[in-house]
Amino acid sequence: MADINEDLIREVVKQVLAESKSQVDSPSKKFNSNGKKRIFAFSIRKDEEPYVKEWAKAHPHIEVGYTDELLSPETAKYAKGADGVVVYQQLSYTADTLQALADQGITKMSLRNVGVDNIDLAKAKELGFEITNVPVYSPNAIAEHAAIQTARILRQTKVLDAKIESGDLRWAPTIGREVRDQTVGVIGTGHIGRVFMQIMEGFGAKVIAFDPFKNPELEKQGYYVDSLDDLYAQADVISLHVPATKENTHMINRNTIAKMKDDVVLVNCSRGALVDTDAVIAALDSGKVFGFVMDTYEDEVGIFNDDWQHKAFPDERLANLIHRSNVLVTPHTAFYTTHAVRNMVLKAFDNNCELINGKPADTPVDISQA
Ligand SMILES: NC(=O)c1ccc[n+]([C@@H]2O[C@H](COP(=O)([O-])OP(=O)(O)OC[C@H]3O[C@@H](n4cnc5c(N)ncnc54)[C@H](O)[C@@H]3O)[C@@H](O)[C@H]2O)c1
Repeated sequence: MADINEDLIREVVKQVLAESKSQVDSPSKKFNSNGKKRIFAFSIRKDEEPYVKEWAKAHPHIEVGYTDELLSPETAKYAKGADGVVVYQQLSYTADTLQALADQGITKMSLRNVGVDNIDLAKAKELGFEITNVPVYSPNAIAEHAAIQTARILRQTKVLDAKIESGDLRWAPTIGREVRDQTVGVIGTGHIGRVFMQIMEGFGAKVIAFDPFKNPELEKQGYYVDSLDDLYAQADVISLHVPATKENTHMINRNTIAKMKDDVVLVNCSRGALVDTDAVIAALDSGKVFGFVMDTYEDEVGIFNDDWQHKAFPDERLANLIHRSNVLVTPHTAFYTTHAVRNMVLKAFDNNCELINGKPADTPVDISQA
C-alpha cells in the first residue's frame, strides 16, 4: 500500500492529536535507568496509546517511553537515552530534526505509516540512519469498506433510510439488487483487491479481475480477463484497487464509462486521481451509472478530515455528490480502523526492536539511493 494518501493520514493525525493533546501524558513518559534497551515514540495519539502499552507489556526487556508531541529539533530531546524512535507525523523530518536525534546517538527510526516523502532521506543517509515503515497494515480495512458500500448501493440503503426517517414505510420503488447476481470486476489484485474479491465471492458474486501483473494463484483459478475493455464490458460492479500513476490518471473517464454496461456501479476506495469526477457526474445524470462509492476524491486534500459544519463548504462538485441518493461519499476513512491502527503501532515497534538489537528489520526502507 505504498501509494496510500499520506497527506490525508497526516491530517487525521493532526486532528486526533489536537483532540488528544490534553489526554496523553506530556511531554513524555520518562525512562527509568535500569540498563535495558529503550525505544521512544513520538506523536502517540489517544487511539494509539493502548497499543503502545500492549507492546510494552509484551516486551518487558525493552523500556518504552512516549509523548503526544511531534518530533522536531526541539522535542527530539525527549528521546534522550533511547536506542531508537518510533514516529508518525504530518510534520517534515527535516535535516535539523534528524541531526537532533543523531546528536543523541539515535539513528534507528521506525515509521508507523507507509510514506517516507516527508523525510530528508539524503540527510538521513548521510547521518547513517536505518529506517523502517509499515507498508501493509490492514488490507481488510479498505476491502471491507468497499464491500459494505457496494452492498449499500445495490440495496439503495441511502434512499431507504431517508424514506424511513421521513415516515414513508412503503417498499416500492426502492427495490434492491442482490450481490450474487452481479459480476464484480476488480481492477488491481494486490493486497486489498484480493481481500475484496474474497468478500464479494462470499456474497456469491461472480468475480473477474484485471491486473497487468497477474497473481499466479488467481491466474490458475481463471479470474483474469484479457483487458480492461473486457472487464468494462462484463462487469456490473467495478472496483478500483490500484495505485495512482501518471499513466492511469482518470482511467475512469467518458470513454471508458461508455464501454461499461448500463446501470454499472463504480467503487473508488483507492485514489481520487483514478476517476474523472465530471465524467462520473455526467454518467450519474444520464442514468448510465447506477451508483458511485467514493472514499477518495481527486480534490480531497485540504477538504477531507475537516469540519465544515460552521463554515462555507469549499467544493460545490463534492457537495453535489454528497447530496445524491445513489452516491456514497466517505472522507478517505476506509483505512481507519482499530485493527489497522493497532497493526501500525505494533509493527513499527517490532521493526524498531529489531533495529536496536542489530538485526535486519522486516520492512526496511531502502535509502541507499537517496
Ligand atoms: N481508502 C483508503 O483508506 C486506502 C488505504 C490504503 C490504500 N488505498 C489505496 O489502495 C490501493 C491498493 O493498495 P494495495 O495495498 O492493494 O496495493 P498493492 O500494491 O498490493 O496492489 C496494487 C495492485 O495494482 C496493480 N496495478 C497497478 N497498476 C494497475 C493498472 N493500471 N491496472 C490494473 N492493476 C494495476 C499492481 O500490479 C498490484 O497488483 C493503493 O494504491 C492505495 O491507493 C486506499
